[in-house]
Amino acid sequence: MNTYRDRMFTGKELEEIRSKFYYADRDAYGRERLFFDNAGGSLRLKKAEEVFHRIDSMPDASEHSNSLALELSEIEERGREDIKKVIFGAEGGTIYPTYTASLIAMEMIRLITENASGTNVVTTLLEHPSVYDAAAYNSRKHGMELRVAGVNKETGGVDADAILDLVDKDTSLLACMAASNISGSIYETEKICREARKINPDIVIYVDAVQHAPHGLLDPEKWGADVVSFAPYKFFGARGFGIAYLSERVSRLPHHRLLGKAEDDWEIGSPATAHFAVITQIVNYVADLGRKALPLEESRRKLFEAGMKRIADHERGLLDMMLEGFPDLPGLRRIPGLTVRMDGKDLTGRDLILGIEFDRLDCRDAVAEYEKRGVIAFERALSSIYSKRMVEAFDSRGMVRLSPLHVNTPEDIRAFLKVTKELARL
Ligand SMILES: Cc1ncc(COP(=O)(O)O)c(C=O)c1O
Repeated sequence: MNTYRDRMFTGKELEEIRSKFYYADRDAYGRERLFFDNAGGSLRLKKAEEVFHRIDSMPDASEHSNSLALELSEIEERGREDIKKVIFGAEGGTIYPTYTASLIAMEMIRLITENASGTNVVTTLLEHPSVYDAAAYNSRKHGMELRVAGVNKETGGVDADAILDLVDKDTSLLACMAASNISGSIYETEKICREARKINPDIVIYVDAVQHAPHGLLDPEKWGADVVSFAPYKFFGARGFGIAYLSERVSRLPHHRLLGKAEDDWEIGSPATAHFAVITQIVNYVADLGRKALPLEESRRKLFEAGMKRIADHERGLLDMMLEGFPDLPGLRRIPGLTVRMDGKDLTGRDLILGIEFDRLDCRDAVAEYEKRGVIAFERALSSIYSKRMVEAFDSRGMVRLSPLHVNTPEDIRAFLKVTKELARL
């Protein structure tokens, strides 16, 4: 009995879910397609985009006192609360909203290393360049040693022990992601934070959750992380916003702010009200999914938690279908002419992102061939600054990254496998 497929959305539920997203089966020109590049920017919720346009079209300034301004200010407050209490499930700490998650990484890693007393920084080979390069640049600048944990080639992740072996009482910063944007492998974040703090209680821990956020729950206070970031454009929302949770001690680090504002206030300039409104729509959507599994009176965070679990359950079913196929259609693991890379067997440790290599097609050619057949994928090529370090870590020539979403159906996976079989024969 295949347990990964037991808790997927029903056909009726999927129909409803798909109706809530733009471009679930056709692109902006009406061409039919399968969008399997959600890790680069996910399908958007119609309500999120609609509310963004409605709010952003108003000239009223939320910090002023006319009636519409006050309404906008309430929308922002609701968004802030949804970010902190619902998406991050946090009681304390501060929210830092800015333009991109890369900006957060660069800014926070600069500040943390500037104010740290340790002599080394620990990170992993799989980090996004905004984290890895900031760790490399700032550790060099402050004369600290940069220690980099290597990958587990089987699982596509980085083992907790490989990270913890590098942490000592002089580690000022540990920067490691919640899940990989190349393999989907989920890090053991809670264990890593807990054990790292046993070695050095003062360590500052940065968790890049940009790729994990649309697939699983974020829980910085339970994890024991100091900074956790995500980007709404990969989480059914809009581009132009990056958000971090900051623990209380990190929120008090000296930072740019208007001096009349509170010491732990990180918002600079006029608030982007429309972006906060988008967040509330994302939370509403996920909480609605959770409502089907929980009593109505549960808290918004509990409903959100249940909704994210339903998303993860459906996506594990899709992942299993991609890998194992169907009785009449082989999955990726069994299609001759291609290899699934970083293919950890325990799917509970994986988000819905995977990498494959064709025997006879370069990854760029494969992505072009996919597009000709109506499938949008992404190449993780050796020539890209976003991919080289990770691709080399897995001894790969370059991979095709596939990142569907919970919006996809078993029929989508069947159609994708048929196209893939064709490509493997080219
Ligand atoms: C894991 C990870 N971290 C950080 C980022 C950077 O996010 P942003 O585009 O908001 O700067 C990305 C973007 O792809 C990512 O995949």
